[in-house]
Amino acid sequence: MKQAIALTVNGDVYEVLISPNQTLLEVLRDKLGLTGTKKGCDLGACGACSVLLDGEAYLSCLMLAVDAVGKEIVTIEGLSEGGDLHPIQKSFVELGGLQCGFCTPGIVMTAKAILDEEPQPTEESVKKKMAGNLCRCTGYKKVIESVMSASGRMGGKQ
Ligand code: FES
Ligand code: FES
Repeated sequence: MKQAIALTVNGDVYEVLISPNQTLLEVLRDKLGLTGTKKGCDLGACGACSVLLDGEAYLSCLMLAVDAVGKEIVTIEGLSEGGDLHPIQKSFVELGGLQCGFCTPGIVMTAKAILDEEPQPTEESVKKKMAGNLCRCTGYKKVIESVMSASGRMGGKQ
């Protein structure tokens, strides 16, 4: 049986008809067309589906869409402002923190949550907090460098 819910995503309210067992990832991608959030493992193991809920990073493949009702959801599509890339995105582009890019939206959203909580983290802290985001291409060095650079360019402010 379908259920009508309202989700707040990137500041917009979307009313959608969903099945109660649909994940937030499925609804974002298949119902709202927000395909920036990636489906990797669909099992909670890779971090490709990371989005922010009330400022914290969550794996959208492990969350039912109904459980996201009433939360402020932010996806990669909501990070840039007025057509300008977010400083985290700029750092990834400039430092080559990505190759195929499949993991990148999840990594960038996790980085946003990290830097909001800890504006000037140590490299060790970033590595630890980023441990749930897997990348098959980069070897992580450039990813960590990009997050550290973003921290610097944001001057401790998000
Ligand atoms: S797709 Fe959600 S953790 Fe891999
Ligand atoms: S850039 Fe290809 S999986 Fe991370």
